[in-house]
Amino acid sequence: MSKKIFLSGVQPSGKPHIGNYFGAMKQFVDLQNEHDGYVFIADYHALHSLRNPKEMSENIKNVVLDYLALGLDPQKVTFFKQSDISEHTELAWIFETITTMPYLMRAHAFKDAQARNKEIDVGTFNYPMLMAADILLYSPDVVPVGADQKQHVEIARDTAEKFNNTFGETFKLPEAMIIKDVAIIPGTDGRKMSKSYNNTIPLFAEYEEIKKCVMSIVTDSSGGIPKNVYAIHKLFRSEDELKKIYEEKAGKYKELKEMLIDDLEKFIAPLRERRKEFAKDIPKVLAILKAGSEKAKKVASAKMNEVREKIGVQVY
Ligand code: TYM
Repeated sequence: MSKKIFLSGVQPSGKPHIGNYFGAMKQFVDLQNEHDGYVFIADYHALHSLRNPKEMSENIKNVVLDYLALGLDPQKVTFFKQSDISEHTELAWIFETITTMPYLMRAHAFKDAQARNKEIDVGTFNYPMLMAADILLYSPDVVPVGADQKQHVEIARDTAEKFNNTFGETFKLPEAMIIKDVAIIPGTDGRKMSKSYNNTIPLFAEYEEIKKCVMSIVTDSSGGIPKNVYAIHKLFRSEDELKKIYEEKAGKYKELKEMLIDDLEKFIAPLRERRKEFAKDIPKVLAILKAGSEKAKKVASAKMNEVREKIGVQVY
């Protein structure tokens, strides 16, 4: 039996945080042993918020280093960059022609942007169409993502069905894969950990940075248990173990935070060191990404030929 396929993407929007890691990145590294996989850098997605070319290039290099440091094996996973594969934007256009505005207006990301924003760019509105193309070009069985992206995977499924019904069976319907325990990782203020809330703990933080982040955790408590500290701590120790510790040290916030700092440092230090090793040879690291893009291009272009055939534009 052939292996199942997973696919996922991550925006090059700066330093990854432990929310990205436990919500998504860790799953890619775990899945690579039993699945064939595609992991890509969603650089065109990031354009709607990142319009500084130098920063964009730096961030892209940084994502490659991050994944290699985490143990993503380019022999097992096709690791590539979205902007290298023009089929993504091409297919997104085709999907846009079969999707209605009221349907896309129901997307959470659009509603959020609308609630916060004055003017929404067309790219933000159409975002789920590009994401549907990202996914469907590679016929994955599962799409491991954090809970915030679940609706986007559902939109990809709906779009695949719509296309299949209109033009004939072409796309496999993907499933979102979300690990229940870590569906949404809270940040230092208890809201979803996110760069836009400024409440993150960076995944490759140096010791002093870890300390600063943990000390800034807002300590709302009930019965002396600081729930925001606990919610992050449970990523590193079993709840049985933690409950005992937190009961014994009820009200001693400083001690509990110091313990979390130690646990984070134990977890992060080896990753940080591996990343520094890879960073010594950037051309080699970029060659890995380029080779991945060449592999992905073959798959995407075969699927796109099938799509062109189905919609009737393939006349030669
Ligand atoms: P992005 O770049 O915002 O986030 C990357 C992954 O990290 C997950 N994540 C979290 N999980 C749990 N708790 C959190 N606090 C948290 N913050 C982030 C996200 O769910 C995501 O899985 N649109 C996507 C990128 C994308 C994509 C795709 C993903 C583009 N095309 C196709 C899958 C398939 C995004 O902006 O993720």
